[in-house]
Amino acid sequence: MRLQVEAISAGYGRVRVLHEISIAVDNQRVGLFGPNGHGKTTLLRTISGLIRPTAGRVIFDGKDITGRSPQSIVGEGLVHVPQGSTLLPRMTVLEALTLGAYSRRAWPRRRSTMEQVFSLFPRLAERRAQRCNTLSGGERQMAAIGAGLMGCPKLLMLDEPTLGLAPKLRAELAQAIHAIAATGVGLLVIDQDIDMLLGLCDRLYLIEQGRVALDVVDRSAIQHQDVLKRYFGSAA
Ligand SMILES: Nc1ncnc2c1ncn2[C@@H]1O[C@H](COP(=O)(O)OP(=O)(O)OP(=O)(O)O)[C@@H](O)[C@H]1O
Ligand SMILES: [Mg+2]
Repeated sequence: MRLQVEAISAGYGRVRVLHEISIAVDNQRVGLFGPNGHGKTTLLRTISGLIRPTAGRVIFDGKDITGRSPQSIVGEGLVHVPQGSTLLPRMTVLEALTLGAYSRRAWPRRRSTMEQVFSLFPRLAERRAQRCNTLSGGERQMAAIGAGLMGCPKLLMLDEPTLGLAPKLRAELAQAIHAIAATGVGLLVIDQDIDMLLGLCDRLYLIEQGRVALDVVDRSAIQHQDVLKRYFGSAA
């Protein structure tokens, strides 16, 4: 699995948020972090086809997917779990998970994939008949990630999966994300929890003002980059 984002510019109307930004995910776990409002979510939205870039290309496994529909991009195995809950409130957990499997590659495998999702998140199995709007914040996040996994991703993009969760739940989710990575799925994760990203990722990008301000490739460098600690120390 290889994702190449090449000199992408994008924004909303006349407001440009991303400025010729380039990142790569090469069979890896990659983390994105940076100040609020600097374009992290916009970058994931552009990769997943929700926003059309004004310049640059997105290449996934050698195919140019720039400007393709979100559904066709999901069909390639590039799955985006958005920031905050976007599950349909009246849907049950089972329905939300099933909806996640609506692509040609995922649909035939939906039963075995759901077994995997339930073993990863036993709580979802217990609550499969419950409506999504009655789930707790943590359960909703599990359901959203579960629905993403139902799409059989080669690369799973998670936008702030631990946002607003208590430490215990955060640790539980981090463990589940580790387990997902161990199955060989590539990850592109945005999070404010630096310890989580440091424990998970092979590479980190600091995004500032719609550009890569820092690209930390080496794992040992990630651990020792005190600039990261400084950054998060002041942001925390
Ligand atoms: N739908 C939209 N219409 C217009 N402007 C938007 C829209 N969504 C985001 N923006 C603007 O684009 C900029 C980047 O937002 P984005 O959500 O990508 O930032 P972020 O880095 O993900 O922030 P956070 O850490 O708070 O999630 C911000 O200035 C934001 O106000
Ligand atoms: Mg965001």
